[in-house]
Amino acid sequence: MKKLALLVCALCIPLVQAAPPKGDAAKGKTFFEANCSGCHGEAAAGGIGPKLAGKLQKWTFAGFKKTLKENVTPDRRTLKPPMMKFNFSDQEFADLLSYLKSLK
Ligand code: HEC
Repeated sequence: MKKLALLVCALCIPLVQAAPPKGDAAKGKTFFEANCSGCHGEAAAGGIGPKLAGKLQKWTFAGFKKTLKENVTPDRRTLKPPMMKFNFSDQEFADLLSYLKSLK
């Protein structure tokens, strides 16, 4: 019985950890303006960096995080400078993605 309980826990912990935090688009907007809009433009309309508004609707949290942390996109492109690697918290990534998904 104890073994079964341990097995169940071992299976559920990774699932719990993999669940992304719920993003707050308003916080994400402030965060975007502080860290990203210099290159991606106001409301992510594009600048030195490509337009992001309306383009990230299908992106997963994991794909977005990997793009920002490692500069590798979900379709396996390695981003070139000046895009840089960002080491934010999961909550900050979730807020950013939630904001970017809210843009048309
Ligand atoms: C110093 C300029 C700069 C800053 C700051 C910057 N980016 Fe970028 N970003 C770029 C450039 C340039 C590219 C395109 C690079 C390439 O295609 O190789 C890019 C690409 C991206 C992509 C991939 C888009 C795609 O599908 O090709 C995402 C997503 C992204 N940036 C999000 C962000 C977010 C979110 C922030 C803020 C945390 C941010 N960037 C800050 C310059 C920047």
